[in-house]
Amino acid sequence: MECKMEELEPSELGTHDYWNDRYEKEISNYLAHGDAGEIWFGDDIVDRILRWLCKTPEIEKDSSFVDLGCGNGMFLIELSNEGYTNLLGVDYSQKAVELSRKIANEKGYNISYKRADILEGLKCTFKVIHDKGTYDAISLSENARDNRQKYIVNVHNMMSEDSFFIITSCNWTQVELMEHFKEHFQMYQVIPTPTFKFGGKEGSVVSICVFKKL
Ligand SMILES: C[S@@+](CC[C@H](N)C(=O)[O-])C[C@H]1O[C@@H](n2cnc3c(N)ncnc32)[C@H](O)[C@@H]1O
Repeated sequence: MECKMEELEPSELGTHDYWNDRYEKEISNYLAHGDAGEIWFGDDIVDRILRWLCKTPEIEKDSSFVDLGCGNGMFLIELSNEGYTNLLGVDYSQKAVELSRKIANEKGYNISYKRADILEGLKCTFKVIHDKGTYDAISLSENARDNRQKYIVNVHNMMSEDSFFIITSCNWTQVELMEHFKEHFQMYQVIPTPTFKFGGKEGSVVSICVFKKL
């Protein structure tokens, strides 16, 4: 099925300033109340991804992971709790990196974080590349079409033949994600999420797709 490649209306969620300001506030909140901040899309989505990882024998506890747009780093903390040891979080917001480092260091986790803009690329390959909500944010930027294309090429360059790319989106359906990524990726698996029915059609609020490189 051909799907429309219409872009989303740009919003502040597609800007660096929005995220830096937000994480600056979250740092104050964390220091004052110990609250790590939002788990995007909720704990259930994180649990679904963790269950899928644990059931995938090709992914070992010391496989290399990168979390693109790691935010407060809580996804990597959950991975560490499951016994995964080779964990890197990157975010283009220096404040997000500060927050995630603070949380991990205080809780005694051995997780690396660094500031990096995925649109500029990362010169490494990883076994597992994870994105929860970052492609969504990039899709809300000005020049989203170009930025999405840069993102897709850069993620592809970070993968080897046996890498997995796991993406969670609330802005794009599974069909739309497949359409966006089809030039460089093949769908490997869909991680099921709760569905709803409306007007006889079934849909999901959040899509989780696992891709491999073509
Ligand atoms: C919706 S939040 C999701 C945060 C985190 N993945 C989570 O699930 O809690 C989007 C994140 O993407 C980051 N981000 C947006 N564009 C980015 C880019 N070009 N490079 C790296 N990080 C980016 C933002 O700073 C923000 O932390």
